Amino acid sequence: MKILLLSGPNLNLLGEREPDVYGTATLDDHVATATSAAQTLGATLDHLQSNAEGDLVEAVHGARGDADAIVINPGALTHYGWSLHDALSAFDGVIVELHLSNPNAREPWRHVSVVAPVATGSVIGFGGDGYRIAVEAAVAAVEARS
Ligand code: DQA
Repeated sequence: MKILLLSGPNLNLLGEREPDVYGTATLDDHVATATSAAQTLGATLDHLQSNAEGDLVEAVHGARGDADAIVINPGALTHYGWSLHDALSAFDGVIVELHLSNPNAREPWRHVSVVAPVATGSVIGFGGDGYRIAVEAAVAAVEARS
């Protein structure tokens, strides 16, 4: 089973960026958590972070017919990234939307997710533990389909 983990804009700054909101762990730490969770369940995991929406769109296109699941923390693209929404609509595997914080408990503009309507499900608000939970949910959802 193949899982693609995607990280959107500014997530490369995790560890330094607003640690009161996002914690002190780095993106590398979260990728290690996700990779370890995948390996424990017999899956492989690739990761891409980009600050450009087009790179993430291309990665979703590349996952078509290749990956079984996408776990994506789209960063702020969550709230307005319609081309990412459309790309994810064209991916027929499992999609898990992931957020460290709980956007619904923050500013009103974060309450809209354009990714949620095309996701299989969402893992939000569990901090770094969300990376393990999201991978476990993705694997379970893929297995439930087969
Ligand atoms: C985030 C939440 C988004 O609203 C924000 O723009 C981010 C991080 C999270 O993981 O909590 O960049 O996706």
